[in-house]
Amino acid sequence: MENQVVIITGGARGIGFGIGTCFARKGAAVVIADVNAEAAQEAAARLDAEGGVRCIGIGCDITNRGHVESMVNEVVARYGRIDVLVNNAGICPFIDVMEMAPDVFVRTIEVNLTAAFHCTQVAARPMIERGQGGRVIFITSLAENVTGPAQVDYGASKGGLRMLMTGFATRLGPHGITCNAIAPGMILTDMTRWHWEQPGPAEEIKRRVPVGRIGTPEDIGHAAVFLASKEAAYINGVSLRVDGGHQAVCV
Ligand SMILES: NC(=O)c1ccc[n+]([C@@H]2O[C@H](COP(=O)([O-])OP(=O)(O)OC[C@H]3O[C@@H](n4cnc5c(N)ncnc54)[C@H](O)[C@@H]3O)[C@@H](O)[C@H]2O)c1
Repeated sequence: MENQVVIITGGARGIGFGIGTCFARKGAAVVIADVNAEAAQEAAARLDAEGGVRCIGIGCDITNRGHVESMVNEVVARYGRIDVLVNNAGICPFIDVMEMAPDVFVRTIEVNLTAAFHCTQVAARPMIERGQGGRVIFITSLAENVTGPAQVDYGASKGGLRMLMTGFATRLGPHGITCNAIAPGMILTDMTRWHWEQPGPAEEIKRRVPVGRIGTPEDIGHAAVFLASKEAAYINGVSLRVDGGHQAVCV
């Protein structure tokens, strides 16, 4: 775990930053690849303070293939290798599907699904070349299985992302590179704060989540650190729900 080189897309805040924090505390070199370059650099400095080693922030729009290629080249030039890629960056416009402009739908698929194809294909090449295996972790959502009227685009992207993970697991497994997903439940971040900090929804959490609280970005980070460990070498092609038991409830 110590000295692992870990790329986290969209790691400047929220779940990605929580994942980065958990890796940094294990002594990893964390690369924050985020569309917001300034926030990525600030986040990397905070991760060094948490125990990370030579963490860096790189401005990268993961929907831009050229950005992804130069980000991966920069990481390999600087550290000599990539051990872990976390496909975390995502968006959720939360618009009723019957009101949604087509370009909003297309953008959700681009950011949440197509960009993870770019990042995985590009980052897996140096992992294969090095011949020491690796880990790819995809951050999906409970929306990989269930959705609602204002998350039709999001659910389609996350269901697709789970299958992208499954497909890459079959392709990269023979190289010792495992691919798995983490499906977070309700996690308090800037993406969701507007909703969960209202009095009604806050009460709803206590009723709907068996462990009785909303999740934190670090709840997801701990799961990611486990999936990236050598002990998890035989786990491949799996989606792990980290949701406090939310989706286990049927009534
Ligand atoms: N928060 C939740 O409750 C929740 C639940 C399930 C799944 N998720 C998933 O977890 C992931 C992170 O969510 P979050 O709540 O931390 O979101 P967030 O909005 O707080 O953070 C997303 C980060 O991704 C970056 N980003 C957005 N588009 C990008 C792009 N094109 N290229 C590079 N970076 C980009 C943003 O700048 C930001 O730093 C997403 O994939 C989301 O779908 C979140």
